[in-house]
Amino acid sequence: MKLQGKVAVVTGAATGIGRAIAHAMSAEGASVVIDYVGAPQLATQGVAEIQKTGGKAQAIAADVSDPTQAASLIDQTVKAFGRIDILVNNAGIEYKYPFVDFPFDKWQKIIAVDLTGPFLCAQAAARAMIQQNSGGRIINISSVHEDLPMITNAPYCAAKGGLRMLMRTIAVELAPHKITVNNIAPGAIFTPIDADVEANRTIESQLMKEIPLGRWGKPEEVAKLAVYIASDDAAYSTGSTFFIDGGMIRQAGSL
Ligand code: BGC
Repeated sequence: MKLQGKVAVVTGAATGIGRAIAHAMSAEGASVVIDYVGAPQLATQGVAEIQKTGGKAQAIAADVSDPTQAASLIDQTVKAFGRIDILVNNAGIEYKYPFVDFPFDKWQKIIAVDLTGPFLCAQAAARAMIQQNSGGRIINISSVHEDLPMITNAPYCAAKGGLRMLMRTIAVELAPHKITVNNIAPGAIFTPIDADVEANRTIESQLMKEIPLGRWGKPEEVAKLAVYIASDDAAYSTGSTFFIDGGMIRQAGSL
């Protein structure tokens, strides 16, 4: 077991990539906090599934974009499990509009959840990790779009690009405390965030043409990478982005 005795917080873990990461980390021995917003039944179901396999899990409701709730998420984790070793900043949203029509309130919401959220959770987690003095792991679920433009998705691309430089900067600041900070940059993974594309055969096949491996990625594939980065095996990696995108970043398409 690669994460025996570790405590992991996964934000936005009721569905999609976050859910798969929570399950995979639990399977490797970690106690897991499933953070969620507005999907209590799915979060509770995730906890029940983990407990059924003999793992330890707890669901905590916290909007990561709210400073008080983000701090309380980390506090409650330490109260419940005694420590925190791994933070996975996974919670994310996107809305697509042509740039010239993009509503300002949507811009604010995307930046708040996708960029301010990881800042707040990483800060609270790093403070707790420094106090524990036993290192730690901060993993941000970014996107190929931390580097690759995507039309109609400007705020999301801006947030993910920001997350890239947040990661690089705090990786350097936190290195003396043996806290590593890395991004995972998934491409098209089959999850609810892409429900609109999954439901439209024409758009879906256009998207597949932009992926050299020609298929969706699976949340479980991303989860395996997250387990690796969280484990002792990855102790020498910090300040990096790990792409998992079927080669999409090497294409010049625009969907
Ligand atoms: C976005 C998806 C998109 C995928 C590949 C992800 O970050 O959330 O909407 O399909 O990148 O472009």
